[in-house]
Amino acid sequence: MQQDFWLERWQKGETGFHQEQLNPYLAHFYGDKGAPLEKRQALKVFVPLCGKSVDMLWLAQNGYQVLGNECSEIAVKAFFETHDLEYQIIKEPLFNRYVSAAKQAQASIEIVQGDFFDLVTDDLKGVTDIYDRASMIALPDAMRIDYFKKMVELQAEGMRTLLITLTYPQQEMSGPPFSVTEEELNKLYSEKFKIDKLLGKDILADEPRFQQRGLSALYETAYKLTRQ
Ligand SMILES: C[S@@+](CC[C@H](N)C(=O)[O-])C[C@H]1O[C@@H](n2cnc3c(N)ncnc32)[C@H](O)[C@@H]1O
Repeated sequence: MQQDFWLERWQKGETGFHQEQLNPYLAHFYGDKGAPLEKRQALKVFVPLCGKSVDMLWLAQNGYQVLGNECSEIAVKAFFETHDLEYQIIKEPLFNRYVSAAKQAQASIEIVQGDFFDLVTDDLKGVTDIYDRASMIALPDAMRIDYFKKMVELQAEGMRTLLITLTYPQQEMSGPPFSVTEEELNKLYSEKFKIDKLLGKDILADEPRFQQRGLSALYETAYKLTRQ
């Protein structure tokens, strides 16, 4: 699932993964259960492979600083333009950094447009939290190993990730999204991260498009990963 695959999907408008509604896990863990409002300005949430997710706007409007990363220029521009957010573009050697005018959202939103695998620790300066919805599961198994290695490299001790995965019989459907099992997560992450399983549910009945693609089971699980 190289970048070209995704750039083409954005060009063709094939973005069935995009959700117009706020993600309920995010609302729960960063809303009611999140830090008190006055402490959120000190928290910076990194959203890897962010697409044009409305969750970034919600995070900013709810007091968090937001740093996204996305390879598609179409996606990044669509995010700022859909929400009427003014932005400036700072050109860097490997990335185009889109920066919102902070006064428009309660906190700032920056999206680094370019390849996730080119990010270095310095790019994540100030990041305390990571929100991964449809990012890890967007990648086939070999690329998930590279994703894991990059996450190890990028994260300082104590950084927390809210990770949302899907698990289904992989032989019933070719991804994306790909199935990520608890076993895989434990195998890859348990040495470097503390893994807490937060919530999980069977969502097949709510997902007719995956039923049509032949799935007989589909579980969604939210985890908290803490870098050790
Ligand atoms: C399944 S979508 C999920 C988007 C978003 N997380 C959401 O919840 O809507 C995966 C996104 O990752 C982006 N992407 C894929 N590979 C990437 C890479 N190597 N670097 C940066 N972005 C990438 C794609 O363009 C796409 O927007």
